[in-house]
Amino acid sequence: MKVAVVQGGPSSEAQVSRASAAAVHGALREAGHAPTLIELDTGLPAALTGHDVVFPLVHGALGEDGCLQGLCELLGLPYVGSGVLASALAMDKVAAKVAFRGAGLPVAREHVVRRGDPDAAPAVRAALGTSVAVKPGAAGSAIGVRLVRASDPSEALDEAIRAALEFDDVVLCEELVVGREVTCGVADAPTLFGGLRALPPTEIRARRADFYDFSSKYAPGGSEHVCPAELPDGCAERVQLLAVAAHRALGCRDLSRVDFVVGDTPDQIVLLEVNTLPGMTSTSLYPEAMSRLGVSFSAMCDALARAAAARGGPRRRVPIPELPS
Ligand SMILES: Nc1ncnc2c1ncn2[C@@H]1O[C@H](COP(=O)(O)OP(=O)(O)O)[C@@H](O)[C@H]1O
Ligand SMILES: [Mg+2]
Repeated sequence: MKVAVVQGGPSSEAQVSRASAAAVHGALREAGHAPTLIELDTGLPAALTGHDVVFPLVHGALGEDGCLQGLCELLGLPYVGSGVLASALAMDKVAAKVAFRGAGLPVAREHVVRRGDPDAAPAVRAALGTSVAVKPGAAGSAIGVRLVRASDPSEALDEAIRAALEFDDVVLCEELVVGREVTCGVADAPTLFGGLRALPPTEIRARRADFYDFSSKYAPGGSEHVCPAELPDGCAERVQLLAVAAHRALGCRDLSRVDFVVGDTPDQIVLLEVNTLPGMTSTSLYPEAMSRLGVSFSAMCDALARAAAARGGPRRRVPIPELPS
């Protein structure tokens, strides 16, 4: 198949995206396809013509947030991954939490700050106390995220909010949850597993920073992955159940990777977010968990491209009633 592997884009994660795209490009060739690497820019609509399937590997703005997905719908091209709404919901951390709560999933208490809000920091402190996670409403890769602790000077919260506002007009402040950093892939892969299932959860141990920030994610040796995670009794099963429930709550498709903070018991698990286009280098978390189930990187990329092609162009033909005269 002619697979358009779309990379880059205007987000702060463009370089991360190119690394994923290069890896998927190689894997698809290995599986016998004819992939092309295409940059996400204004030439994209023309560049996509003639391809059989689109494989979006753009993390963040325009590629993971429903825009590229909308373009594929418009062009009638099948594409890998979640559709417009699920992509947009997952990218918007505030909107996603509305859906998670609606599905009864455990999320952290929050207070949302918008650009221009007067006295934002005191309002956050009044709502959440002095230990707060501060994140841009729509970003990723922990870019713009700061964890403020009770022991930090009081300006730390103001600074964290200001830093997050550089990335977005909306800032999600959450109570700081203590526990292990765990992520869990979800695969809806009929040809590999016969349907929807959670992959083995991975614990991420950051070495460089005190949390899984941008440098610990991407620097060599910046973090250690333990997959399958060694968690307290019952926690791994609960994480897997919640990961599938979060994927469904947003209406995701094909694949997602769901981030958690896991405490000491199954009822101390907090859902952070769903990533609809997780990192896809051969050493990334999602492919690593897949390999624990015996699925190679190349087999996984092949299955994703084939599943999208089998689903076909986006819109089903619907009956169009005649207008009454
Ligand atoms: N409420 C929270 N309590 C503790 N740590 C958090 C909290 N929210 C985020 N973090 C930390 O920040 C990281 C990034 O947050 P996340 O919500 O996953 O956003 P993204 O990965 O899109 O930047 C998490 O992996 C975790 O280490
Ligand atoms: Mg995350």
